[in-house]
Amino acid sequence: MRRRSVKFFIDTANIDQIKDANDMGMVDGVTTNPSLIAKEDGEFKQIIAQICKIVEGPVSAEVISLDYEGMIKEAIDLAGIADNIAVKIPMTIPGLKAVKYLTAEGIKTNVTLVFSALQALMAAKAGATFVSPFVGRLDDLAQEGMGLIEEIAQIYANYDFDAQIIVASVRSPLHVLDSALLGADIATIPYDILKKLASHHMTDKGIDAFMADWKKKNG
Ligand code: E4P
Repeated sequence: MRRRSVKFFIDTANIDQIKDANDMGMVDGVTTNPSLIAKEDGEFKQIIAQICKIVEGPVSAEVISLDYEGMIKEAIDLAGIADNIAVKIPMTIPGLKAVKYLTAEGIKTNVTLVFSALQALMAAKAGATFVSPFVGRLDDLAQEGMGLIEEIAQIYANYDFDAQIIVASVRSPLHVLDSALLGADIATIPYDILKKLASHHMTDKGIDAFMADWKKKNG
């Protein structure tokens, strides 16, 4: 397993959530997808531009086209929004061709909807900057999502690929813990799960006891 600093991306297009998590120092990047964008008010490119102003790290914005030409056109347009855009491309054959082209043009890509180690191998070979295996959706099918991360990490280490693994479709704090234990490059975390990571009932109990003792003495 390669050794890199652990990165947290936030998996949302909600500006308030991004600002709050960024203030905590927990946002090394942002991932969005069409479903996350659909939950927010405002126009797609404007939302992305706003996020890019808040966050210094990579901000993933997904293309809607499924054909090669359409993907390239959209990708170039999205990459023009800010220097920190990573264009999210679905893991398809036109998608791989688009990644190859965009990488040669110096545009960062995030290959999304990855569900197998061989898909991840192909994405890395095409030159993807990021590859996003969806662990939660695999768990939903009673398949080991985190097992896929282990396989991909092994393959990338075998061949010294530069593609960074984004553990995506994170559904619980345990996914984040497992990502860190496996040494995955990045976990992209929904806001509610990020908040859960920070909390512990013993911390709350300890604070309550300290406050009560303080009041007893000082009124
Ligand atoms: C990340 O890039 C994906 O957009 C996201 O993690 C998908 O998560 P979901 O399976 O919970 O929709």
